[in-house]
Amino acid sequence: MNIIPKSPTASWFEMENKISSKFDSFISLSLGDTILDFSKNIKKTIFQQENKFNYRYSAISGSDSLKQAISKYNRHYAGGNYLKNEIIVTNGGKQGIFNVLLTLINPGDEVLLPRPYWDTYLEIINFLNGKAILIKTDGNYNMDIDDLSKKITSKAKLIIINSPNNPSGAIIRRSSLKKIADLAIENNIHILSDEVYNAFLYNDEKYVSISSLSQEAKERTIVVNSFSKSLSIPGLRVGYCASSKEMISKLENIQSHSTGNVSNVSQHIALGLLEHFEKITKDTLKTFNKRIDYSFKRLKEMQNTEMVTKPAGAIYLFPKIMNGGEDAYYLCKKLLETRGVSFMPGKYFGLKDHLRITVSHEIPVLDKALTIFEEFLEENEKRHYTT
Ligand SMILES: Cc1ncc(COP(=O)(O)O)c(C=O)c1O
Repeated sequence: MNIIPKSPTASWFEMENKISSKFDSFISLSLGDTILDFSKNIKKTIFQQENKFNYRYSAISGSDSLKQAISKYNRHYAGGNYLKNEIIVTNGGKQGIFNVLLTLINPGDEVLLPRPYWDTYLEIINFLNGKAILIKTDGNYNMDIDDLSKKITSKAKLIIINSPNNPSGAIIRRSSLKKIADLAIENNIHILSDEVYNAFLYNDEKYVSISSLSQEAKERTIVVNSFSKSLSIPGLRVGYCASSKEMISKLENIQSHSTGNVSNVSQHIALGLLEHFEKITKDTLKTFNKRIDYSFKRLKEMQNTEMVTKPAGAIYLFPKIMNGGEDAYYLCKKLLETRGVSFMPGKYFGLKDHLRITVSHEIPVLDKALTIFEEFLEENEKRHYTT
């Protein structure tokens, strides 16, 4: 039987929780949680409709009304028109990704994965005895399309793209998406487009989904999205996949044997929130834009970090630590244990000299955490963190 290790980011968070009680004031900027509630009043109204909650089994792929609302949401952010039978509601983005990989990957199949990557992709590929082929990105985290092209073999089954990217915040521009789509079509490869952060785009950028480039690109793409970040409801576990009707039917078959339908209560709340999605996402974006700007500026001013580019999207900063290339894991651990500030080590995303900071708190809290971090780096300059 194959063994899959626990998500390292989840394990880090568990460790952090144990340590946090030792500090009067502990700041966690590690998990990818927005911790916002712009929709408090909307939720109150939804809960007053308790008599509309369905406590029975329901359609595996989600309620028709939710799929209709998702189609509208997806069109707003990513373009393209998906019909109800081209959408499945999933338990968050994670279940969508797991089911797509389970459907497509046989032992020995190759999955092209740009680095840095979100840890879950790699663990699922390994679990399925697939082979992750890591693709280079440049200093600004843009995918090296020549490297991608060189690494495609007859065993390649899938390309995973994640734009805006967790952890780097980089987005893939239309010209690169076009090249990726052409390579996928030429080599008969599927594309998993993880668009979980597509409502988080700064500098008035307009999101481009690879699925919107052409009918051919759409047919071989599986869009994965979730409302965990955009509507700040990670605990409700509502996400979706959009693809061809044939692919959705395969995903539905798998889901019919695992979780069945997503909780009807969660579906009902997501549907209620989606009626107001433009307002909720606008407020969320405004808040995160300010936090990203502030934290980016602070990190840029620090002596011992290198903030290569400003994130174009998502909710993270991903600085490189300049201490002779030592492993930032030990630095994060020491910062956590001695100062009560938690960031996520970059090695979980394939780059061990980086660390990830989620800007999930108000600016005064970010200021405090970054001041502690700056002092810590200065005190520890040139020391090694390997012990
Ligand atoms: C890139 C990416 N994809 C998917 C997910 C999964 O989201 P969910 O919490 O909806 O399962 C996350 C969560 O952090 C993520 O960062």
